[in-house]
Amino acid sequence: MSVLIVNGPNLNLLGTREPDIYGAATLAQIEAKCLQIFSNAGIDASFMQSNAEHEIVDCIQQAMTNKVEYIIINPAAFTHTSVAIRDALLAVNIPFIEIHLSNPHSREAFRRHSYLTDVAKGVIAGFGEQSYYLACQAVINQLKP
Ligand code: DQA
Repeated sequence: MSVLIVNGPNLNLLGTREPDIYGAATLAQIEAKCLQIFSNAGIDASFMQSNAEHEIVDCIQQAMTNKVEYIIINPAAFTHTSVAIRDALLAVNIPFIEIHLSNPHSREAFRRHSYLTDVAKGVIAGFGEQSYYLACQAVINQLKP
């Protein structure tokens, strides 16, 4: 069993990036906790971040070859712009959870539209780093009912 956690642009700056909105945890700290949660459940997990849309598309395509069973994705700004990431997720046909640290619906109007929400298994947003851990638990519940 394996799970892929994908992170979009500017999430490499977590910890210093607008901490009032995104919190104080670094992406490395979030990664460590996610991998621990999956390891405790006996599930292999890998974590990636890229600022480049094509690298995220390539990674999602590779997930099919790697027989990934579930994807957790914080697409960051690509949430609101990327038909390519939507198409990649549909192409590999791997169930995914869309997550956000902040609640995009309580922010600027342009953040209210997501290219992924209508094809996601579910969405978790607004709980800071806990959005990641809640998604990990949701995936474990789906894979090991
Ligand atoms: C985000 C929300 C997006 O609107 C924003 O562009 C991000 C982060 C979040 O996790 O709250 O970069 O996905």
